[in-house]
Amino acid sequence: LDNGLMRTPPMGWLAWERYRCNIDCKTDPKNCISERLFRDMADRLAEDGWRDLGYVYLNVDDCWSSMLRDSEGRLQPDPQRFPSGIPALAGYLHARGLRLGIYADLGNLTCGGYPGTTLDKVETDARTFAEWGVDMLKLDGCYSNETEQAKGYPLMSRALNATGRPIGYSCSWPAYQGGLPPKINYTELGQICNLWRNFDDIEDSWDSVLGILDWFMDNQDELQPAAGPGRWNDPDMLLVGDFGLSLDQSRSQMALWSVLAAPLFMSNDLRTLSPEAREILQNKLAIAINQDPLGVQGRRVLKLKSGIQVFLRPLSHSASSLVFLSRRTDMPFRYETSLRELNYTSGEYRAVDVFTGAIITGLTDDKNFTVIINPTGVVMWYVYPTMHHGRGEGRDPDPS
Ligand code: GLA
Repeated sequence: LDNGLMRTPPMGWLAWERYRCNIDCKTDPKNCISERLFRDMADRLAEDGWRDLGYVYLNVDDCWSSMLRDSEGRLQPDPQRFPSGIPALAGYLHARGLRLGIYADLGNLTCGGYPGTTLDKVETDARTFAEWGVDMLKLDGCYSNETEQAKGYPLMSRALNATGRPIGYSCSWPAYQGGLPPKINYTELGQICNLWRNFDDIEDSWDSVLGILDWFMDNQDELQPAAGPGRWNDPDMLLVGDFGLSLDQSRSQMALWSVLAAPLFMSNDLRTLSPEAREILQNKLAIAINQDPLGVQGRRVLKLKSGIQVFLRPLSHSASSLVFLSRRTDMPFRYETSLRELNYTSGEYRAVDVFTGAIITGLTDDKNFTVIINPTGVVMWYVYPTMHHGRGEGRDPDPS
């Protein structure tokens, strides 16, 4: 969507995967969906380096609202859990250089059973969110049919635009329609939404990460061209810092989401995050790769019987990023290849290992090299051409 927002994939924190619809503030006051949780996370985003790395959106998900609209038909937050109201929360975030995301559902009810945004409520809700100072909206699609969605998602896009407030727009529309052409017209979708959920909800497990990855990669010919500045495929939240992924798997998700130009929304407890998880999520080079201004989504370029898969994302300044993923479950695997095998044009390159910082010099397209990849882990490289006298600027690795 060409609203000037999200020219690179949005980054931030989203409540759903980790906190779900926990509304029991009596027994679990620190983790229930309440203004306290979002203020706590805002403090962490602002004070622990996240904001300055680009993690600026703090997004509320389902179960924030009252079960009833107000007397004028507007959504309102649960009065016990958000006693200060949403404008106060927005103000708290804005004062810290952060942005507020909120959740609504095009349909009779949200997926969690809270009041939905039926077609006749789309404009009211857009105005309410703008008045509150909301900066991003995730519009879910439970309890609506295909026809309502085809009307409602574009209608909300226009309604948000009409408020005059810049509001990033995340659409779950494709996820409810199978995520693929011809049902989904990705060219059109890119003019309506800034990002969209194409597929299943992520769960706290490596299986879930792989299921999502495989679906996106098996359909990359349809999905990859849809992404670009202002319009992103969303394979759902980062699990890093939660319970289901090992450290290698956490690096894998961060690496893959970065080469896939995915939105980077963490869903974890920033108050108790381990130093290891923090290091992965705050990896500057991985973030720079994710945020590359060209905005080209990477592709899976090799899927080998050995269980090794290679992903390549072209980047600005003739650079690129490679991710070598091992699906094996035995032992660190020595994978031998060459840049030529990965379709790079001839020349000399250098690489930085994103997670170790090691610099690999003297890579020529025709010379074999070996990477050692842990089971369910990755090796991630930032690759760039070495300058040579008389050879001019480095040239583009061919991503095809
Ligand atoms: C759907 C969405 C999730 C989350 C829940 C909330 O399942 O895909 O991301 O927003 O609804 O109920």
